[in-house]
Amino acid sequence: MSEDLWPPRSLDDPRGPEVDAPPVSAPAGITLIIPTFNEADNVGELLRRLAAALPADPPCEVLFVDDSTDDTPAAIEKAGADCPFPVAVLHRERAVGGLGGAVVEGMARAGYEWIVVMDADLQHPPHLVPELVGEGIRTGADLVVASRHLPGGSRAGLAGGYRVAVSRAATLLAKGLFPRALRGVGDPMSGFFAIRRGAVTGAALAPLGYKILLELAVRCRPRTIAEVPYVFEDRHAGASKSTPREGLRFLAHLAALRCANPLARMIGFGLVGLSGFVPNLAALWLLTHVGVQYLVAEVIANQAGVLWNFWLIETLVFRDRRHHRRRLDRLGRFALLANADLLLRIPLIALFVGRLDMDVLPATALALVTTFVLRFVATEALVYLPRGPRAATTTRS
Ligand code: GDD
Ligand code: MN
Repeated sequence: MSEDLWPPRSLDDPRGPEVDAPPVSAPAGITLIIPTFNEADNVGELLRRLAAALPADPPCEVLFVDDSTDDTPAAIEKAGADCPFPVAVLHRERAVGGLGGAVVEGMARAGYEWIVVMDADLQHPPHLVPELVGEGIRTGADLVVASRHLPGGSRAGLAGGYRVAVSRAATLLAKGLFPRALRGVGDPMSGFFAIRRGAVTGAALAPLGYKILLELAVRCRPRTIAEVPYVFEDRHAGASKSTPREGLRFLAHLAALRCANPLARMIGFGLVGLSGFVPNLAALWLLTHVGVQYLVAEVIANQAGVLWNFWLIETLVFRDRRHHRRRLDRLGRFALLANADLLLRIPLIALFVGRLDMDVLPATALALVTTFVLRFVATEALVYLPRGPRAATTTRS
């Protein structure tokens, strides 16, 4: 293992994290990345089973990326001392990106050619780790996914019919939205997989919550993908850390991935704009009913639509681009552009009717389309574009 990469640099190392370290000739071996959030009662047994399962050759290392509030790091250090392979803990003060964010930070520090991601609660059988990597070497695949949906696999440990239904719906949704990227991935919700280090770099990863495999499959587009069946076991100790909020994060994650190319972003922008008619009209109805003069009501109701659009655009369409300005700054600019759109439309219609001899209806339609495109371009440029020089973050999908 290269001394540069192991032990991992601390987060405040002045050289920064190795996120963009070139993938060139990582030494043969396996870096296991295990995200942990309050798993003190699991890590000992996990390391014991890993010690029994991992081969001496190729070499292995285990890196826990920990966001715990309990004594998980101490438990790892204690159990790690007896292991035949190096065990390290990267404890994060801020759990940026949740589970997925933890895995990405771990990947940046991986020293070996193969990265295996698995959970700490023994729902992912440790004896399968060498098999995943072996399958990748045998088939030449960049990514090997442990799947619950192949013959020989099962989701025995997925608690309750509700979790099974949610998991099935999430899988269908993801596969429907990304048919090409997820071709050959029967279980895109799996949290257990092996990926070549060289297949990870190059794309800007911005995972949000649990679905790190989805992020990698869509943004990195591994050339070939293999699958190995596995039985999703019961949790060894403790309870799942997944909450209903994680479900919402998943939907936002899907939207961000889907909106990663310019055309999709524009379509998303348009759909959100259309949905904005609902709060706009609802507010108009409410205001005129309490006796507000209708023109005043129009202007106020328009702001209800603007707020609604801003919230959805922020969470779904431009989620990964909102860090360049403060929220209030973004809202101000967004509202200004949305209202300018309204003001611009009238003279534009007059122009189309007066100068181009168009009828009112097609003139209005053309003005709507024109101001929509202008507003999209202006919003992207004036609200969500980074101010300094920036790295390319384009994604195919
Ligand atoms: N560092 C870090 N930060 N780790 C986390 C966080 C976090 O915010 N949240 C959860 N973890 C860790 C847990 O400690 C555990 O090791 C692993 O991530 C999975 O969390 P669980 O709470 O056990 O998830 P689950 O069993 O409901 O879901 C798992 O299985 C599903 C089916 O394969 C996950 O792997 C899902 O991604 C997967 O879809
Ligand atoms: Mn679990």
